[in-house]
Amino acid sequence: MSSSRFVLFLLLSLAPFSFSHQKAQIQETFHECLSNIQTPNTFFTPNDTNFTQILKSRAINLKFRTPSTPKPDAIFTPLNETHIQTAVICAKKLGIHLRTRSGGHDYEGLSYTSVMGRPFVVIDLSKMQDVNVDLADNSVWAETGATIDRLVQIMNTGFPELGLKKEDCFEMSWIESVMHIMEYPKIVPPSVLLERKPSFLNYFKAKSDFVREVIPESGLEGMWKIMLEDESPLMIWNPYGGIMSKIPESSIPFPHRNGVLFKVQYVSAWMDPAMEDKRVSEIRKVYDYMTTYVTKSPREAYVNYRDLDIGMNGKSDDSWGFKYFKDNFHTLRKIKTKFDYSNFFSHEQSIPLID
Ligand SMILES: Cc1cc2nc3c(=O)[nH]c(=O)nc-3n(C[C@H](O)[C@H](O)[C@H](O)COP(=O)(O)OP(=O)(O)OC[C@H]3O[C@@H](n4cnc5c(N)ncnc54)[C@H](O)[C@@H]3O)c2cc1C
Ligand SMILES: *[C@@H]1O[C@H](CO)[C@@H](O)[C@H](O)[C@H]1NC(C)=O
Ligand SMILES: *[C@@H]1O[C@H](CO)[C@@H](O)[C@H](O)[C@H]1NC(C)=O
Ligand SMILES: *[C@@H]1O[C@H](CO)[C@@H](O)[C@H](O)[C@H]1NC(C)=O
Repeated sequence: MSSSRFVLFLLLSLAPFSFSHQKAQIQETFHECLSNIQTPNTFFTPNDTNFTQILKSRAINLKFRTPSTPKPDAIFTPLNETHIQTAVICAKKLGIHLRTRSGGHDYEGLSYTSVMGRPFVVIDLSKMQDVNVDLADNSVWAETGATIDRLVQIMNTGFPELGLKKEDCFEMSWIESVMHIMEYPKIVPPSVLLERKPSFLNYFKAKSDFVREVIPESGLEGMWKIMLEDESPLMIWNPYGGIMSKIPESSIPFPHRNGVLFKVQYVSAWMDPAMEDKRVSEIRKVYDYMTTYVTKSPREAYVNYRDLDIGMNGKSDDSWGFKYFKDNFHTLRKIKTKFDYSNFFSHEQSIPLID
């Protein structure tokens, strides 16, 4: 037995003990530290009957709702900013790893699960639902937990004039357009949104690319061929240009601008969990095929279409950061290092510190 294997063996045999010990400790010490907030029904451990329901309420990818998906040791649902501050301070003090969840749409589930293999706590913002309308400067600030139903109330009272105009293709109010985009049949009333449920759930894996050069016909032919071999892969091409190209690359973190013809999203979705390996390898195959036709050095990617295949902290070099952010990655790392030098807020693809 080589020495590294031996060490691994030791670690594996110790892990269950230290994890369950850590778990109980996290639950107790964290809860205690939060106790001065004094709000009932905001702290849940797996012992609570509602824990699973809360965890699942915003876990949008079925791929990360399985029994083997790593689960948080506690979920905290703050009601206001003070609660969040307290939770962050407590977690920092106690050395507890945090995940923050708003809508739970993270493609790799990073807001509610972790492949880093350490105990963690989720701060779930679903109860932060304030909507503030400022008529003076025509702005609305919605807290992250405010879903459509909450906004509808506001639109009805504050902005009745926002209905679509006659000259639009379909004349419909804003809320009907939401129903339309979600592909509800016309007879379903908008009140279905009050149920606060995702309209559908499936298992999925996605990847992304940006294209700066016209793909030759031969490239498209090969693409059809490879896609028709499979049942599932879907591609979505979003045209770029216009105002997107006029904004300097360095003005905000999002850098995929001047010169980008379109963005590609590859999606593979399935309903039968046994299909995972097949579907994931199909989408990777399409992605490999596209290498010739998409951006290179870096092969750009869209951070909202989170993809751990391109690399992650502790498991690969940091080239994934340049894919998402190009040179802005340097700036982001400087900011990160300045404001979070202990790397307290971290996940598989969080901005790493400067070495
Ligand atoms: C069905 C579906 C359709 C989508 N359509 C589009 C689309 O059309 N266009 C597009 O650009 N994207 C789209 N996305 C991607 C979506 O925009 C991203 O996944 C986005 O990150 C989701 O935000 P969230 O708050 O729902 O996710 P979450 O999973 O809650 O959070 C995403 C990430 O942000 C972190 N985070 C959450 N809240 C906070 C906070 N308050 N402070 C700091 N960090 C926080 C989380 O820890 C996680 O790392 C879609 C996703 C799905 C599932
Ligand atoms: C727990 O679940 C029950 C049943 O769904 C619900 O009535 C109750 O409000 C939930 N409690 C909290 C704190 O979410
Ligand atoms: C959860 O339940 C287990 C036994 O089922 C117990 O050992 C543990 O202390 C409980 N944790 C909390 C936080 O109540
Ligand atoms: C948040 O709620 C607590 C009660 O739990 C209250 O004491 C505190 O003042 C509130 N803070 C804000 C900013 O509303």
